Amino acid sequence: MKITIVKDEEAFDALAAWRVIGEILNNPKAVVGLSTGRTTKNLHEIIAGIYKQYPFDVSQVTIFGVDEVTNVPREYAGACYTMLKNELVDALGITEKQFIMPPTTSDDFNAACRTFQKAIETRGGADIQLLGLGENGHLGFNQPGSPFEGETWVTSMDEALEARIRKETNTPSDKELGGLTLGLKNIMQSRKILLLAKGERKADIVKQMLEGPVTTDIPASILQLHPNCEFIFDEEAAGKLKQ
Ligand code: GLP
Repeated sequence: MKITIVKDEEAFDALAAWRVIGEILNNPKAVVGLSTGRTTKNLHEIIAGIYKQYPFDVSQVTIFGVDEVTNVPREYAGACYTMLKNELVDALGITEKQFIMPPTTSDDFNAACRTFQKAIETRGGADIQLLGLGENGHLGFNQPGSPFEGETWVTSMDEALEARIRKETNTPSDKELGGLTLGLKNIMQSRKILLLAKGERKADIVKQMLEGPVTTDIPASILQLHPNCEFIFDEEAAGKLKQ
């Protein structure tokens, strides 16, 4: 288990951005799994800025997102597809063929899950997977209680996120919202994982994830068992860890 603690948010964003760029420079055919949210927004923009100044070869790179919101328009600003496009994918000139995302709407989400997972597998699987950490310990949309052996599926989002998306998209209460996500088993199959957490509000869950037992109550605790996972924190997120 490799834990890297940096001083502040600025150092955190820069380090994570360079980890991704380093992966691509080492492997121009890298399959890169991204994650949306407050944790990763800045680092995506840093990668985009560095690329603009010092372009590197991304012509063979594949990018995918670990999860997606279901039953909202794909163009909705809170859809992972649109967030990743706006924050990074367009800036790198990544084509639609290089960008694998599940649909936000479907008549058959089970089939959509299989197609999404297969598309990643066909490209050889993730070389690197970036993950944010839910305050309840979720990874992607794998909420507490999700099975460790689970594969890509549609599950629920946490209550606060669902309420925000419902409001922003004017989704009536009788229309189900959810999260389509790679399962914990798929995530664990990534060759390398970067678990990213910054800020004081993550300090409690960071401690539980690393110092507590491996349990489905805290999905991210499974990462204790990954052979090549780097945990990157700022001092605030790491603040409750034992020295
Ligand atoms: C959402 C996403 C997750 C992400 C998490 C972290 O729930 N589905 O993939 O890891 O948010 O969010 P934040 O970085 O905003 O704390």
